[in-house]
Amino acid sequence: MILAAPAHAPALAAIHAAAYPPHEEHPGEAWPAAAFAAQLASPGSFGLIELAGGLILARVAADEAEILTLAVAPAARRRGLARGLLEGAVALAGMRGAAAMYLEVSEVNTAARSLYETSAFLAIGRRRRYYPDGSDALLMRRNITCAATAAG
Ligand SMILES: CC(C)(COP(=O)(O)OP(=O)(O)OC[C@H]1O[C@@H](n2cnc3c(N)ncnc32)[C@H](O)[C@@H]1OP(=O)(O)O)[C@@H](O)C(=O)NCCC(=O)NCCS
Repeated sequence: MILAAPAHAPALAAIHAAAYPPHEEHPGEAWPAAAFAAQLASPGSFGLIELAGGLILARVAADEAEILTLAVAPAARRRGLARGLLEGAVALAGMRGAAAMYLEVSEVNTAARSLYETSAFLAIGRRRRYYPDGSDALLMRRNITCAATAAG
């Protein structure tokens, strides 16, 4: 796992495109390379990349962190990449001063929900019909403890 730099933007976009293939009901879900480059250049944002085919982008503002996107290419799934990226992002966010991590996940995304629920995230709210497929978003939160910070 390595810290993503703007030069990784094309590789990040390729992983995202594999994880979010075009879908007629919600095209354009995958971020283009320019979006990754812009996000990585924005204050407080950082990314981690698994060259085997995974990525996570997050942002820290004051004492709060937010997952912006997490994706693993289909060929690299169920090998613990997402869990490792998530723990890496939590540890880095803690080192950058965050006391809590937030994210949004579709209620119908059972794989991601299972990942978050078994990684100490708790649902704290709901945004109705938030996603293009009409599904609700669950807002989830995890405390970032000193132990998580030290683990990084
Ligand atoms: C969700 C996603 C990131 C998981 O990536 P992954 O590398 O396969 O996940 P991991 O191997 O680290 O699995 C960690 C946990 O996630 C859950 N999980 C992952 N895939 C799952 C699936 N297909 N069904 C049920 N649970 C699943 C399990 O709890 C798993 O733990 P376990 O292996 O001990 O059972 C990946 O499926 C993906 O990129 N999906 C499309 C994009 C997406 O939904 N991103 C998240 C948006 S909020």
